[in-house]
Amino acid sequence: MPGLLSFLANRQAGSFVPGIDDLVYGNKDQKVMGVAEKMKKGQQAVADLAAFKHARKSKNDAAAKTALDRFTANKEFLGYGYLSTPEEAVPPVSTAFYSFHIMVVLGSFFPVLFVACLFYTFKKKIATTRWLLSFGVISLFLGYVAQQMGWVVAEVGRQPWAIQGLMPVKVATTNIAVGHVQATFFMFLAVFPLLLIAEIKIMLKQISIGPEGM
Ligand code: HEM
Repeated sequence: MPGLLSFLANRQAGSFVPGIDDLVYGNKDQKVMGVAEKMKKGQQAVADLAAFKHARKSKNDAAAKTALDRFTANKEFLGYGYLSTPEEAVPPVSTAFYSFHIMVVLGSFFPVLFVACLFYTFKKKIATTRWLLSFGVISLFLGYVAQQMGWVVAEVGRQPWAIQGLMPVKVATTNIAVGHVQATFFMFLAVFPLLLIAEIKIMLKQISIGPEGM
């Protein structure tokens, strides 16, 4: 739809919306700064932050103030200082794209299913409309798919940032011992299948009892 993206982004149809190439390589005409330039400023900010910390440690107030002033000038680019290449600033586009589309298709399908169920309930035919009941059963599982796709969109789409522009994920990784992470992981690996088995058992039991008054 012509103009819609511009409107969504800037509340003005026909306004410029930067694409991935504009954001990564810059666009002088539209005054978009490229990642290479941001990386230079970021590297300066990283160096100034280190100089500030060093000056504070050695109680050199004048040097600390100079370093802090220099850091402040570039601080919004800090995270770019840790990137190795401009292309690293681009998230895995196709994963985010397809996950988003699967989520939205399912998010549009669920209300349609809901309205269909409502319609057949009012017509008092819901219990005998087998195709609709089959969709209902499949949709139990599709809800989880949509949820997982949403999570993929959020986590993959934010890459490489833990904090947008300030801290890339590779700098944000914790120094917790591997064993601790493994212990939590295996605990979840044991608990969740048990909960799943319990849930499926309860659902099967209810299904075998059937709806009330039938
Ligand atoms: C028309 C339908 C939908 C639209 C337009 C939509 C849009 C979005 C967007 C834009 C995000 C990313 C948010 C971010 O910036 O992090 C997101 C995340 C998410 N979505 Fe959807 N969504 C839809 C349907 C659904 C459905 C049906 C489900 C689940 C049943 C779902 C579950 C999630 C989850 C779990 C997240 C991740 C939230 C997070 O971890 O921050 N979405 N959705």
